[in-house]
Amino acid sequence: YKRITVKTLVDMKANGEKISMLTAYDYTMAKIVDGAGIDVILVGDSASNVMAGHETTLPITLDQMIYHASSVVRAVNRSLVVVDLPFGSYQSDPKEALRSAIRIMKESGGHAVKLEGGKEIKDSIKRILNAGIPVMGHLGLTPQSIYKFGTYTVRAKEEAEAEKLIEDAKMLERIGCFGVVLEKIPSNLAKKVAESISIPVIGIGAGPDVDGQVLVLHDMIGMTHEFNPRFLRRYLNLFDDMTDAIAQYVDDVKTRDFPNDSEKY
Ligand code: KIV
Ligand code: NA
Repeated sequence: YKRITVKTLVDMKANGEKISMLTAYDYTMAKIVDGAGIDVILVGDSASNVMAGHETTLPITLDQMIYHASSVVRAVNRSLVVVDLPFGSYQSDPKEALRSAIRIMKESGGHAVKLEGGKEIKDSIKRILNAGIPVMGHLGLTPQSIYKFGTYTVRAKEEAEAEKLIEDAKMLERIGCFGVVLEKIPSNLAKKVAESISIPVIGIGAGPDVDGQVLVLHDMIGMTHEFNPRFLRRYLNLFDDMTDAIAQYVDDVKTRDFPNDSEKY
């Protein structure tokens, strides 16, 4: 695939090809992620935690998301760039939701938006889709509602919540979303959702029987080290490697080892 589009992703599902997705929030990281062949880059509102050090995703603003997304878009040649609508930019009414989505598309150059929630935000999603903006859904653990749930534990273990999740996923497909993220739900339920809709289901902590996987980049390369859920596979330990490198640099400066003769003019 030369350039990934929302159509490519739906075709991938139909052909049984798994979809790879990672977050990125800046130019330098996005350049590496896109160059390595990722299908979808998510400019997640997890930037609130990872980039800004907030405890939740709630504080990040639409302006800040646009700054992150525009930096990512400048780096990308092939990946589809999906941008999270932040908390407070779409919940009050469909017109506000559309205005926020339009700002993201115009000011960042992103290719699609993602919103958390099911039937509660159906009208907002429809309004955005009607403007020609591709929308990805996000069900299960929805971090923007953390204060309603109180914990980040596995969602939809109870029958009623599982039924609602399946209904929401079907609704998202019916109104025209191109995909849906399922976060931290039982793998059996995720499998059932992936089998009952034809748009791609991308899982994070949702098991193997979905159409693709997403992780937070800084977690999977081990730059963060305090977040250790079962679903996280770390491919590098950059927290330790960077700490060692920086400690070495400090030592080299103190001991006058750096700069040496070949490192000066
Ligand atoms: O913001 C984010 O990183 C996300 C993923 C965890 C799906 O929404
Ligand atoms: Na998010």
